[in-house]
Amino acid sequence: VNTKLHIYYGAGSLKSLATFLNKNHFTRIFILSDTNVLTHCYPILVSKISALQRAEIIEMEGGEENKNIYTTIQVWEALTELGADKNSLVINLGGGVITDLGGYAAASFKRGIPFIHIPTSLMAMADAAIGGKCGIDLHHVKNQIGCIIQPVGIFIYPEFLYTLPQQQLKNGLAEIIKSALIADAELIQTLIHKNNTLEFALKKSIDIKSRVVLKDPDEKNIRKTLNFGHSLGHAIESTFLGTKKMLLHGEAVAIGMLMEAHISFQKKMITKDILKIVESLITPTFKLPKFSIKESKAIHNYLAHDKKNINAQILMSLLNGLGKCSINVPVNEREINRSFAYYQKLSIP
Ligand SMILES: NC(=O)c1ccc[n+]([C@@H]2O[C@H](COP(=O)([O-])OP(=O)(O)OC[C@H]3O[C@@H](n4cnc5c(N)ncnc54)[C@H](O)[C@@H]3O)[C@@H](O)[C@H]2O)c1
Ligand SMILES: [Zn+2]
Repeated sequence: VNTKLHIYYGAGSLKSLATFLNKNHFTRIFILSDTNVLTHCYPILVSKISALQRAEIIEMEGGEENKNIYTTIQVWEALTELGADKNSLVINLGGGVITDLGGYAAASFKRGIPFIHIPTSLMAMADAAIGGKCGIDLHHVKNQIGCIIQPVGIFIYPEFLYTLPQQQLKNGLAEIIKSALIADAELIQTLIHKNNTLEFALKKSIDIKSRVVLKDPDEKNIRKTLNFGHSLGHAIESTFLGTKKMLLHGEAVAIGMLMEAHISFQKKMITKDILKIVESLITPTFKLPKFSIKESKAIHNYLAHDKKNINAQILMSLLNGLGKCSINVPVNEREINRSFAYYQKLSIP
């Protein structure tokens, strides 16, 4: 798909991976993965690429609760015990938790050893594996620790999605909807009318993200558009992390997109019709839990610590038309409160 970022997409991507492994003589190969992915995807991978039979497996527990420094230490210990050197390859096989944590673990091990991503969830294929952002959470603060470093290859094999649970598909769909809303009015129509396959939308979404990342790898400007829905989304995700109401990243971002679309509407950056389009893409698909007063306060509090803020001013990436997004838009307390009121009143079809 994208040669500059070394992205290979489609049924032939695993052949490209076999060629890649043949060309590069890595001393050792390590596969970092979680239990589900080792059950569902690893056997397919090894059956197609015999060179991977000799790879060492490092298994971690999946889930956002494990995207932390304690798991990272275990990965570093495993790499050390198994004798990884600077010319070893780490393969991150899994969802966004694996690609984020595995990228960070490899990028900091012995000051950095090469790694590749083989994303297996829709979230990771559409978003997490692309762009080089990697990292871990610090307590409940999402992605507080990390860096931007590009993997030496990204191999996206959509057939891995066959075993992905429905809820996880919806989770990834949230990021595809986001890509459409910020950059591609045509893809918005495709999603509304469902007149194409998921793989088509996924491919489009990968194209959007790669284009944006190549223009602005260090997130100085246009890359910030990808944060639409994420200021509130991350705050919501952090608030519910580890509780009974815990939300997946995409589920929290879906709510964040509704609220941030409403702020865009308040600022007259989008019309009511566009707000309705955002609602029609999100409300039928995602669960939309209401917030208690305590939860609203916690979300506000996380928002105040968002990485995008400068000098304590809350800055957001907001919609500025259909398929358009503006960055660094200052948002005040009143607008945020109104977006809460809007979300709490929103009726779910
Ligand atoms: N770095 C980035 O740019 C970026 C972008 C978006 C999201 N993220 C991060 O990604 C993470 C979420 O990613 P995720 O939703 O993939 O989470 P995840 O890695 O926890 O995967 C979700 C679940 O699906 C299972 N799974 C994965 N592939 C499967 C398959 N093919 N068949 C069956 N089960 C499968 C996993 O075992 C896990 O239980 C969050 O931490 C988020 O912050 C990062
Ligand atoms: Zn996201």
